[in-house]
Amino acid sequence: MNKAVILAGGQGKRMKADIPKPLFKVLGEPMLEWVITACENAEVTDICVVKGFMGDMIDQYLNGRYKTVLQSERLGTGHAVMQAVPFLSDDTDGNTLILCGDAPFIDEKTIKESLELHKKSENSVTVITAELDNPKGYGRIIRTESGISGIVEHKDASAEQLKIKEVNSGAYWFKTADLIAFLQKITNNNVQNEYYLTDTVSICIAEGKKAGAYKSANSDIIKGANDRKDLLNLNTYARMNVIKKHLANGIEFTCTDGIIIERSVKIGTGTEILPNTILRRGTVIGSNCTIGPNTVIENCKIGDGAVMNSVQAYDSEVKDNCNIGPFVHIRPGTVIGENAKIGDFVEVKNSTIGEKTAVAHLAYIGDSDIGKKVNIGAGTVTANFDGITKSRCIIGDYSFVGTNNSLIAPVKLGKAVYTAAGTTVTKDVPDYALAIDRGTLKVKENYTRQKLKNNK
Ligand code: UD1
Ligand code: CA
Repeated sequence: MNKAVILAGGQGKRMKADIPKPLFKVLGEPMLEWVITACENAEVTDICVVKGFMGDMIDQYLNGRYKTVLQSERLGTGHAVMQAVPFLSDDTDGNTLILCGDAPFIDEKTIKESLELHKKSENSVTVITAELDNPKGYGRIIRTESGISGIVEHKDASAEQLKIKEVNSGAYWFKTADLIAFLQKITNNNVQNEYYLTDTVSICIAEGKKAGAYKSANSDIIKGANDRKDLLNLNTYARMNVIKKHLANGIEFTCTDGIIIERSVKIGTGTEILPNTILRRGTVIGSNCTIGPNTVIENCKIGDGAVMNSVQAYDSEVKDNCNIGPFVHIRPGTVIGENAKIGDFVEVKNSTIGEKTAVAHLAYIGDSDIGKKVNIGAGTVTANFDGITKSRCIIGDYSFVGTNNSLIAPVKLGKAVYTAAGTTVTKDVPDYALAIDRGTLKVKENYTRQKLKNNK
């Protein structure tokens, strides 16, 4: 079976934060996750991650999904791969892909096509390369008539070699058995006193085996980040790529300012995304919606034809043709039925709202189940928490809750219940009943006259 080893030992000193470099995020996901996704898409799923700096954080992030191995001293890329030899040794018949955990844009196509070339050419090693206008810092590929003769690191290269624009991406396919053998022969005789993985190419050729290169047309596979500015560039690049994909699918953007869409988000045709909209992981949006401006949606399913203007929504579902916003907070566990209207300054948490129900202004609905065609008056609050336990409010279909009600949970309003403005509902109300809780209004005539006199 084919294997992959992902080098993720980097520190990223210039990022000025104590986390392993591959955990820095591009469009909300660690760079390491992008690399893992590329492997998974290319059906390489026997993966070992070589961790180093703050390796525990890598384990925490992976949470047992893939194997890891520790490189306790940073002695070079060859040394890093040596740590994975026990992982490689359990099945040496196939091929092994080596990748850098901090080059997020390696893709399925590159991995698959380079493997094809690797197998067809019967190479022991196939280096994945690309051509760069500015190859500074990268290992240069030395091509020969029949293949390649080696990789020379920038710091070890002659003036002539420095002119070469084809560079090593840091990704390779090896025959697994050959990789294990080559690793034993690497030394640290070079300018940096490191064990270079790149030396495996000349070792391979010296052994009379074949080395080749797959040149990717997509030089972005090399892109990495050494500092925050680089990371911002990666984000900008990824962000626009995702937007371009949605444009091709018939999604409308008049202006892309402040629009951040993570790569797992799905959007239906004919939907318009307005500025300052952030769509995060797990979000699926239907067709012909208008989303934004100023909206954050995370892990929500939004039906067709929804309008969401200045909304924050998390871990919830909004069904077809809802009109939400402006200034609405939808918190986890909420399901909003078709054609519902949730208006300004409303917070809904862990509740179900029935179809065609309106919560149009200034309300808090928490831990509640509201039926269909209900009207919740402005200023209504469900008192779902007594300081110790949370309880539910249930409101039947066709009910009308007046303005400024407090519903003290647990409480149940039946079908078509009517509550008067200002009512505090402390007990269940049966179907078709009116609940009214009001002191007698006292009016004291001429009350302020004396006051006004005293003020003169
Ligand atoms: C390496 C290649 C170079 C190539 C470049 C592409 C070598 C000797 N050189 O350069 O030809 O053009 O990648 O980016 O391999 N790492 C470890 N442990 C180590 C050293 C590195 O885990 O001891 C990891 C890094 O975290 C990174 C990857 O290996 O993910 C590449 O290391 P980096 O230092 O960036 O590679 P270079 O030596 O610059
Ligand atoms: Ca590098």
